[in-house]
Amino acid sequence: MLIKKGGGIPYSEITPESVYMRRREFIQAASGAALGVAAAIASPLSTPVSAQGNLAKLPNVKKSPLSTTEKPNSYEDVTSYNNFYEFGPEKEDPKANSGKFSPRPWTIRVEGLVKTPQSYDLESFIKPYALEERIYRMRCVEAWSVIVPWVGIPLGDIIKTLQPLPNAKFVEFTTLMDPTRMPGQRIPIIRYPYVEGLRLDEAMNPLAILAVGLYGAVLPNQNGAPIRLVTPWKYGFKGIKSIVKIRFTDTQPVGTWQISAPREYGFYANVNPMVDHPRWSQATERRLGEFRRRKTEPFNGYADQVASLYSGMDLRKNY
Ligand code: MTE
Repeated sequence: MLIKKGGGIPYSEITPESVYMRRREFIQAASGAALGVAAAIASPLSTPVSAQGNLAKLPNVKKSPLSTTEKPNSYEDVTSYNNFYEFGPEKEDPKANSGKFSPRPWTIRVEGLVKTPQSYDLESFIKPYALEERIYRMRCVEAWSVIVPWVGIPLGDIIKTLQPLPNAKFVEFTTLMDPTRMPGQRIPIIRYPYVEGLRLDEAMNPLAILAVGLYGAVLPNQNGAPIRLVTPWKYGFKGIKSIVKIRFTDTQPVGTWQISAPREYGFYANVNPMVDHPRWSQATERRLGEFRRRKTEPFNGYADQVASLYSGMDLRKNY
């Protein structure tokens, strides 16, 4: 994963070499070097970005006691500094390049070890549940953090309704694969479609949500519209965006970053100040909008709620 320019560490040092080389290809293509592809990528760049005012307010959102009392970052912070490689590798790219993306209609396929494998349109998938505001502290593996007022549904409630079979041990999520709508997929810097997974008991933890909004309104494209995973005790890359498939399985899923940089990104990805990334420290972080560095907390400050999920595990090995 990449760090914003000016952060002090050159891209070449913080990015696995293979990913870095592909990123250069993306940039060359986007700047006109690769004819044809360039035209297709350049057009969304000129599209107006979605602004808070344009996105529908979500009705009947109830507050949650699981929210942090810390002050949320501004809407601008949360929606302008993103990781969403399907729309480009730079932090500004997702907002700049996702304006034309239409996340409707949207189908979610539920499959694998589950009572009834079937496809749902998004509206019917979320209809049975009350929406909750969850103000969460989020920590990116690149050592920045942000406080986000998500609107979502407890993942555990959804999983209970779906009824995984007794032999299901994990749940795997997949992002939309559609290079015509996601320009970054035309020059794959990382493996697409983006995949992430959780152990079933992690997914059932009350903190895990599927988010459909932020700041009381529909999720902007750059943040993973129309529905994305949020697990605030893990590094941000577990929070897979624009989900089209949920698969229950008895085998541990292999996430996109595990494939793209296996020595750097593990399956668990729990925030852990004691385990440095191979190329930088995880002991501190910078909150978006601040200059001082803060100490990073184990499980991103959510240890009371989640540490028991990992009792007996060596989290230096199971990173
Ligand atoms: N999901 C998809 N499909 N593609 C991505 O590139 N980036 C991940 C995660 N989910 C990513 C993704 C990473 S590295 C982070 S830090 C978070 O999304 C960022 O979420 P945010 O942009 O809402 O802060």
